[in-house]
Amino acid sequence: MAQKETSKSLEQYKLNLKVMYLYIKLEKNNKGKGSYMGENKSNDKLWGGRFAKNTASLMDKFNASIEFDQKLYKYDIEGSIAHAKMLSKTNIITEEESKIIIKGLQSILEDIERGKVTFKLELEDVHMNIEKLLIDRIGELGKKLHTARSRNDQVAIDIRLYLREEITNICNLVKNLLSSLIDIAKAHTETIMPGYTHLQRAQPVTLAYHIMAYFQMFKRDYDRLKDCYNRVNMLPLGVGALAGTTYHTDREFLARELGFSSLCENGMDAVSDRDFIIEFISTSAIIMMHLSRFCEELIIWSTSEFGFVEMDDSYSTGSSIMPQKKNPDVAELIRGKTGRIYGNLINILTVMKALPLAYNKDMQEDKPPLFDTVENIKDCLEIFNKMLKTAEFKKENMKKATKKGFMNATDVADYLVKKGLPFRSAHEIVGKMVLYCIERNKTIDDLTQEEFKNFSNVFEEDILQKINIENCVEAKVSKGSTSKKSVLEMIESAESFIDNFF
Ligand code: ARG
Repeated sequence: MAQKETSKSLEQYKLNLKVMYLYIKLEKNNKGKGSYMGENKSNDKLWGGRFAKNTASLMDKFNASIEFDQKLYKYDIEGSIAHAKMLSKTNIITEEESKIIIKGLQSILEDIERGKVTFKLELEDVHMNIEKLLIDRIGELGKKLHTARSRNDQVAIDIRLYLREEITNICNLVKNLLSSLIDIAKAHTETIMPGYTHLQRAQPVTLAYHIMAYFQMFKRDYDRLKDCYNRVNMLPLGVGALAGTTYHTDREFLARELGFSSLCENGMDAVSDRDFIIEFISTSAIIMMHLSRFCEELIIWSTSEFGFVEMDDSYSTGSSIMPQKKNPDVAELIRGKTGRIYGNLINILTVMKALPLAYNKDMQEDKPPLFDTVENIKDCLEIFNKMLKTAEFKKENMKKATKKGFMNATDVADYLVKKGLPFRSAHEIVGKMVLYCIERNKTIDDLTQEEFKNFSNVFEEDILQKINIENCVEAKVSKGSTSKKSVLEMIESAESFIDNFF
């Protein structure tokens, strides 16, 4: 009996050795491939324990987000390092263990940045790729990193870290644009041009006034970005999959470590909230809408029909057939890309529509529209600013354009009102004067004193001087108007906005 026992345990010992040998061999073969025991095996996946069968390769490909979410590697590692620190601070793992994990994560970051890491599709996403790399590097201990954490709070923290940084970058680009607008406005407080309504010449304004209108739009965009930043800057990490964790974690520590101003208060909300992405893309869509209006004007202004502006050669293109052409492609492309950002907004709104709480895989689709928006809004803001700064505004043509279109008609009416006529009667008299001029191919300024008197006997000698274009601009005394004094006030307040808020 005793002999039988001995030979049985010897057999067992031999078998164990064999298994160990095979295991080591397999691990060696797969070194650097990011997979323990061959690819596509479900039971090799980090979640594979419950699976009896391999996943189909088509499933792996369809399910994977690594192709696009690898962009988040830096933030994923940043979040994991903070998590590892928290785990040791709360004695869930030892300090020694935490240090080894952090070193492992840092070495992975360095290798990714040196282009030494190839992400694996079968490892699905950036989170599992990095976790697997860690396990490959530091062994069993790497498997402790995911304690008290889920990919649901992990992906949420990654996106928030990424977006926080990108919103700051975008704010800086808006700030550059705001500064350029002030510079252009300062140079053109006396450049008179037609102001339009319905794209019909309406009243004379200065180019500075027109430009400062855009300043206000982009200033509101800046405020909206800052506001959105505050809602992005809340920590979702530490709530686990949806319900919280059984460990005594320290989320306040995580928030401090990662520089978040507050915690997401409800775990279910923390893992299922993507409205901060919607808010960001919506803010971006408004920026694009503003850019597209400006671009449209620059495109129109650069036609020979208008001739108000000429883009610098460095930001224009030619035609492959018509040698004389110089096209404002930058402005046209920005106008075109506006559609793309609106598309991204509808995309994310539709992904999130009617999703039950908490996490759903649909939400993996949040990243392509987000990344696309970030990249494009940055490109558009940067190139628009450069194109605008190098554009040449044609003062003479702008001024000339104010001569036609009866741009001082309202001022003639105001003249009559100041002489005691009710505005409606004054409006009618000037309407008749305009018709009279059109029939004789004249402007109001061409009329003789006698002709003026024929329309109303309150007209006096000073009329022509009162309605010359420069006076029409300067006579706008209401706050927020086109007069030089008023525009200089706007510029001053814009400069103080820039100094105080940036
Ligand atoms: N790749 C996933 C995403 O981007 C990560 C979260 C996965 N969570 C899950 N429970 N399957 O949304």
